[in-house]
Amino acid sequence: MEIEKLLKDKGNLKPLPDENNLGFGIHFTDHMFKMDYSEDQGWHGPRIMPYGDFHLDPAAVVLHYGQAIFEGLKAYKGRDQKIRLFRPRENAKRLNRSAWRMCMPEMDEDKFIQAIKELVKVEARWVPSLKGTSLYIRPFIIASEPFLGVRPAKEYIFSIILTPVGAYYSEGFNPVKIFVTDKFVRAAKGGVGEAKTAGNYAASLMASEEAKKLGFTQVLWLDAAQRKYVEEVGTMNIFFLIDDTLVTPALSGSILPGITRDSVLALARKWGIRAEERPISIDEVLESAESGRLKECFGTGTAAVISPVGSLYYKGKSFEVNGGKTGELAQRLFDEITGIQYGDREDPFGWIEFVE
Ligand code: COI
Repeated sequence: MEIEKLLKDKGNLKPLPDENNLGFGIHFTDHMFKMDYSEDQGWHGPRIMPYGDFHLDPAAVVLHYGQAIFEGLKAYKGRDQKIRLFRPRENAKRLNRSAWRMCMPEMDEDKFIQAIKELVKVEARWVPSLKGTSLYIRPFIIASEPFLGVRPAKEYIFSIILTPVGAYYSEGFNPVKIFVTDKFVRAAKGGVGEAKTAGNYAASLMASEEAKKLGFTQVLWLDAAQRKYVEEVGTMNIFFLIDDTLVTPALSGSILPGITRDSVLALARKWGIRAEERPISIDEVLESAESGRLKECFGTGTAAVISPVGSLYYKGKSFEVNGGKTGELAQRLFDEITGIQYGDREDPFGWIEFVE
């Protein structure tokens, strides 16, 4: 694919933000990628252009019926100054699974990766070098056709924006406090929970806000039908180390198939740790916490990386995990995954792609 490049004058580029204080999703780079879809032309007009507003008709389908999907991945600058992407093809595949579920046009995997690489190359000066920082990449597709009938749109925009980031949670790599809700649910089987679609995140806000008011970082969701089985945290998948077995909820249809989740399972199995994907009830988790069998709990996600969980709060009771401290396995996984991402450790699975 030939990508047109409409670049800003060097003199007009934005000043770079302080790498010590990036936050998450606050600063945006000078350029973005954009491409359009219409029924007769398919995906067309790929271009890298100055970051700026979209022209959207007020009747655009996305604004009314939420036909929107997105992805999240990161570019990492190693000590060798090379820029690495972590498993971008998995993002391309998941974007297409989300597109299928939301009746949106799919995207050629190679073109998706090419667009990311060319944009990151243009914005290479924005990839931060400080430990724990990276350039977060947000590809997304929205339905842009102006039409108020309820049916899949016939016009779409695919865009990629970039934001230099630090840790997702203000706790950094320190353990977070999780509120387990049995009042709200995120997604039901047969719904859109496994698609990375905007509405799932809107649906999660009420419970998150309530949890935050009570001093918790995030919400752990239970299954919609019985409010019994653990699902995910919304910004991350969840893992429990019970005795010597690592357990994570099976991909039931209502859980996001996380790429970091998959990487953790692969590494654990490579290290000879038994790793199970199965239904796990909140009762089993809390009983194992009370009996001392729950050794560790942590979340996984692109934004969150590995995020240790220090306590779980359920039905008025708090359950501490590993004395509220980061566990050994969480630390080992964090070191290994970030080591691979920044090029400090070997990449035995071929997960890295370079931006050259
Ligand atoms: C990610 O980890 O990339 C996510 O998409 C989570 C998020 C909504 C910040």
